[in-house]
Amino acid sequence: MKKTTILMLGDVTGPAAADYVAARLWRVREEHGASFVVANAENVAPGNGIDNYGVKTLIGGGCDVLTTGNHVFKRREAKNILEDTENIIRPCNYPSFDPGRGHVIADADGVRVLVINVMGVIYMEPLENPFRSVSRILREEEGKYDICLIDVHAEATSEKLALAYYYDGRAGAVVGTHTHVPTADEQILPKGTAYVTDLGMCGPKNSVLGVKPENIIERMTKNMPVKFELSENATEAHGVKIVFGEDGRAESIERIKF
Ligand SMILES: [Fe+2]
Repeated sequence: MKKTTILMLGDVTGPAAADYVAARLWRVREEHGASFVVANAENVAPGNGIDNYGVKTLIGGGCDVLTTGNHVFKRREAKNILEDTENIIRPCNYPSFDPGRGHVIADADGVRVLVINVMGVIYMEPLENPFRSVSRILREEEGKYDICLIDVHAEATSEKLALAYYYDGRAGAVVGTHTHVPTADEQILPKGTAYVTDLGMCGPKNSVLGVKPENIIERMTKNMPVKFELSENATEAHGVKIVFGEDGRAESIERIKF
């Protein structure tokens, strides 16, 4: 395969963030020479989940594949979106009878990219063991892809790291999403897999994971249910740029922000 540059963006939080990303992504792709972009879209709808507006905006704006997570089925339209849109996937360890698929093989300028979305099970829903789910996909798709990217939507850093070391040398990249805070541990693991514990968020800057700080403070100080509203502050987009060599292994990973 030829040398390939891929961008992976953290949780796009709210429609304003989708607009922000879509307005800039083609330029950012060009600047970095990227032929493929993956973004996590599980919070793109107002109040979490996926909606038609957010998904169309991101795909039209330059995202090749959208991954999701624990909020994916929150809205009624999710079922149709997942069934009708090939390039949006949901965690592969949900039951197989749930709508959508947990992986997709997409084209990056002639390079076949397998994207797998998996959810952690520590402090999350009791889904199938993520190691079993991912390994099954790698077995099924063996020989059909050049690069494998895994979005681990998980709470626990230990689970993300353990999955990354387990698939080191088998996946091109293992990246974490869900916690919305970018981590500074981007690295190439010993057998050539690019890794970062969390990509961060594409969303409002002055917020608690995207939500107005006053909502979260009220919830945490009074221990009463509070309606969360998206913060309306300036948006910032976080993710990584990964360069893959001709052997399909990651040569570099660096954090990007726009
Ligand atoms: Fe999440």
